[in-house]
Parts: sequence; structure tokens; C-alpha cells
Amino acid sequence: MDKKIVLGTTEEGLKTLRTKSAVVSKITNETRDLAETMLASMHKAKGVGLSAVQIGVLQRVIVAEHGSNPTIEKFILVNPEVTWSSKKEVSDEEGCLSFPELFGMVKRPEKIEYRGLDLDGNQISGKAGGLLARVIQHEIDHLNGVLFMDRVEDDLYTYEKQKNTEEL
Ligand code: NI
Repeated sequence: MDKKIVLGTTEEGLKTLRTKSAVVSKITNETRDLAETMLASMHKAKGVGLSAVQIGVLQRVIVAEHGSNPTIEKFILVNPEVTWSSKKEVSDEEGCLSFPELFGMVKRPEKIEYRGLDLDGNQISGKAGGLLARVIQHEIDHLNGVLFMDRVEDDLYTYEKQKNTEEL
């Protein structure tokens, strides 16, 4: 079952989104259910990444999807951390499921190395570049109460027609 996305356009929603999420001390069935719900909510909202706070759960869990048909891969990380990021930064357009129709250019390290736990509680680590690197950084920001508009290089903007930029 999916859950409604917390919107930053309401006072209460923004307060939630500005709250720092707690470290998951033990991975349980509840954590696995949370990840399932997050993936379902992300799909329903047609996003490519989601943090638990965006469905109102203040725990450090992020999900994403990367690749393209037929090899779309799920990405789930508990207590995610960036352990290395490239000096080279790239600027690209970002949106956020919690702020529908708002976009802005955000500069972030091009490549990262990350670590965290999988849903069995195993420590995992990996490297990411491109959109996945951007999504992971955007979602970890959410866990710290940081929003993409805090990082936009210029003004935020909207599109009159539906733009197909991914929302995270
Ligand atoms: Ni977002």
C-alpha cells in the first residue's frame, strides 16, 4: 500500500520535512514494510527517489530506482551515508515530490561512494554516478531536513506544461 506524500506546501508538512530523521537501530519487519510502502508511494507519485520522511516516517531510510527498461533496479538503503564524493561537481535540474511543479538547478558532486545497511541488516557500500548519485544525495539531504531549494543555484521555476524531469 502506498502512502500520501508529505507536501512542503503546508505548514505542518514543511515542519515534518525540516525535521532530522533518526538512525534505524535495528532492522525489523517494520523496516522492510516501510521500504515496501516507500517504493509503492514513489511509484504512485511517478518519482525516482524517496526518503521515509516524505511519507511522514522520521527514520533514515531511502529508496530509489535506476536504470531503464527492462533493467530497472531497486535501490534501498538504511542509515545511508556518503563516504566519498568527487571534487568535480555537476549542475542539473532537480524537482521534489514534496514540492510538485517546482524545479531548480542544483550543483552536486558528480560521483559518490556510499554505505549503509540493506534490509537484512548487512553493511553494504557502493559507488554511484549520474542520476543515481544525485538521487542519493538529494534523499540523504531529506533525512537531515535539507531541501533542494536550499541548494538551488538560481531561482526556482515552474513549467506551464508537464515537464518530464524526474522528481525525487
Ligand atoms: Ni525530494
